[in-house]
Order: sequence, then C-alpha cells, then structure tokens
Amino acid sequence: MSDVLRVSKVSKDYGSRGRVHRVLSDVSLELARGEVLGVVGESGSGKSTLGRIVAGFLPPSGGSVEHLAGGPRSVQMIVQESAGALNPRLPVWRSMAEVTAVNRRLTRRFREPSMEYVRYVGLSDADADRRPTQLSGGQRQRVSIARALAAKPAVLVCDEAVSSLDVSVRATVLNLLNRVRVDFGIAMIFISHDIAVVSHLADRVLVLSNGKVMEHGPTEQVLTRPESDYTRALIAATPSLERRLMHSAEGA
Ligand SMILES: Nc1ncnc2c1ncn2[C@@H]1O[C@H](COP(=O)(O)OP(=O)(O)OP(=O)(O)O)[C@@H](O)[C@H]1O
Ligand SMILES: [Mg+2]
Repeated sequence: MSDVLRVSKVSKDYGSRGRVHRVLSDVSLELARGEVLGVVGESGSGKSTLGRIVAGFLPPSGGSVEHLAGGPRSVQMIVQESAGALNPRLPVWRSMAEVTAVNRRLTRRFREPSMEYVRYVGLSDADADRRPTQLSGGQRQRVSIARALAAKPAVLVCDEAVSSLDVSVRATVLNLLNRVRVDFGIAMIFISHDIAVVSHLADRVLVLSNGKVMEHGPTEQVLTRPESDYTRALIAATPSLERRLMHSAEGA
C-alpha cells in the first residue's frame, strides 16, 4: 500500500541545450505511512537530487511526484547541517516557532507549542533558549528534527542527516528518527552514502548508481541477497556491515 508518496519515472537533467547531463533516469518509488525507504549509492549517484525533487525544492525534468497525503508542504527535509537554516542570532525556539507562526508576528506565545517538540526530541527548555552555536552538533540536529515535526509532515526526507555526527550521537539520533516514524506515522526517505547506517532504519532499500535504480527491495533481502554487483561492492566497502551480516548468518 502506498498511501503517502508516489514517485513515477522521475528523471533530471542538469545543464542547458547542448551540454545536458542526465543525473536521474526513470526513478520510481512509493511510500506508505510510517515506512522508511533507505536510498544509498556512491557520491554523485543522484541521491540528494532525488531527495530535493521529492521535497519540492527542485522540479523533475520528467516523470511525476505525487503527494497523496496533504500536498507538497507535507514534506520536510533534514540535511547534514540543517541548523545552517536556523538564524544564528536567535534562540532556537524562535526559529522553530516560525514554522507555526507563518505570517503572524512571532511573539512569546508561540514558544509553548514548539516546546512540545523540543521535549519530544530530548532537549530541555533551557536548550531551546540557546542560539544554534551554543548547542552541540547532535543537539542542533535534534532541533532540526523538532522543527520539521512542528510542520506536521507526512514525509521526512533525511539527506545524510547523521553523517557529520560521531558514532554514539549518531545512534541516538537514529533511534529518535525511528521513534518519530512509530509515534507520528511519518514516512521517510533516508539518504546516506553509508549502507550500514541505512540498514538500521530502513524497511526497504533503493540503490542508485549514476542516477539509475540498480536495486530496490526489502532491507534484509538487499543486504543478504544483493542482485547487482554494484550493491555487493557497496556492502563489501562497508566492513562493519559485512561483519554484522556474517555474524547473523553464523547465528542462524
Ligand atoms: N545544481 C547542479 N547543477 C549541475 N549539476 C549538478 C547540480 N547538482 C548536482 N549536480 C550533479 O548531479 C549529480 C548527482 O549529484 P547529487 O548531489 O544528487 O549526488 P549525491 O548522490 O547526493 O552525492 P553525495 O553522496 O556526494 O552527496 C552529480 O554528478 C553532480 O555533480
Ligand atoms: Mg548528496
């Protein structure tokens, strides 16, 4: 069942006449409520381009993106340094409240509705009064997630959302994203160059190479019985994942 998002044969060309560079060809995918689709592929394979098209920041050159649960505004995007989008001079609750106070004067009465999400992501009221530079990278990424949640999206596009975090902080943010999917039923497109990171969260994995879908299936199947040499190479290049797969194969 795909009740949230349907992407059909999307392509993307960059450049102008004569020098056209096709970076996505015929990419199709669907998402159901609360489902997480992992998108992996090497650098330049088109992951971010796909994410930005789904989020509505970039028009596709061909194909269609249908938001089946509430229109394009129902998509929020989290990127590697999402906090770059926060105003560095303002306490973070104000940047968050902009989401709910659209076109209205941002007074302190907008603070409390944001705090619900601030607390949900595990930050304190005092954290919300700090400026972005006064928070750690992990805390800033939590603010970005809280801000996205405040917009009540149906889909969250996470593009390398945990890539700049160290391993232990990365695990806590991945756990948070998993709770978000369960508690709010938000579907996600979780983009990472690291197939090991993707495997923690994704129900299904889509593998991109040169803008083409090499493989698309349930996470377990893609990891243990990859169809393409490209996917096998991605797994082989991720030693921690190889060890884990060998371990679980031995245990089975
Ligand atoms: N604005 C642009 N104009 C022209 N070409 C672009 C533009 N943005 C991206 N590209 C090209 O499109 C291709 C795909 O880029 P994209 O950023 O989607 O890859 P990616 O898979 O996200 O890579 P990474 O893992 O490094 O983030 C690359 O060849 C890139 O050079
Ligand atoms: Mg990218």
